[in-house]
Amino acid sequence: MSKVEHALILIKPDGIKKSLTGNVITKLSAARLLIIGAKMIKVSRELAERHYAEHKGKAFYDSLIEYIQGNLFGEPFDRVMAMVYTGEDAIKKLRNIVGATNPEEAEATSIRGSYGRVTTKGVFENVAHCSSSPESAEYEIKLWFDPDDLTEAIYPSKKVVFEKVEKKVWA
Ligand code: RTP
Ligand code: MG
Repeated sequence: MSKVEHALILIKPDGIKKSLTGNVITKLSAARLLIIGAKMIKVSRELAERHYAEHKGKAFYDSLIEYIQGNLFGEPFDRVMAMVYTGEDAIKKLRNIVGATNPEEAEATSIRGSYGRVTTKGVFENVAHCSSSPESAEYEIKLWFDPDDLTEAIYPSKKVVFEKVEKKVWA
């Protein structure tokens, strides 16, 4: 039975460096899903570690944290494009289009098969991230987006009144 799912997509810094945002979004559009949030983000070490917490302790963890922050690419490519997609069976559809984790094993027409590479140091520069389950999607979407960043209310939210909040506004 199909059901409506949500997924976080990241266009990783190698995708930004290679000007692939349009190519990635075009390939993903074949899934006929709805984009309900999108923004560019410079990834802090804390955000990188929270996003990839499940991989802490693995051999590739340290290089993964460096990679997702774009430290290898430097200004102005040290950023990601984060998007939230929603629709029927969104996770399976998107992950099929994104392709296998290792770009060398990914189906040739997938995003990773088309645009990814494995560096000589063994880092999988695989262009895009996609949530792998409804539970990880909820964790990741709440990590990268506030409720008001999304056009639909996909998870319960609450209103909080802050006494003193410092906010940057246009001068
Ligand atoms: P992602 O989370 O980025 O969508 O990728 P995934 O589900 O296909 O793969 P996952 O196992 O979650 O791995 C997260 C990211 O870590 C890097 N990786 N490198 N060298 C390696 O053996 C290795 N394994 C994983 C990749 O950048 C992968 O996307
Ligand atoms: Mg994963």
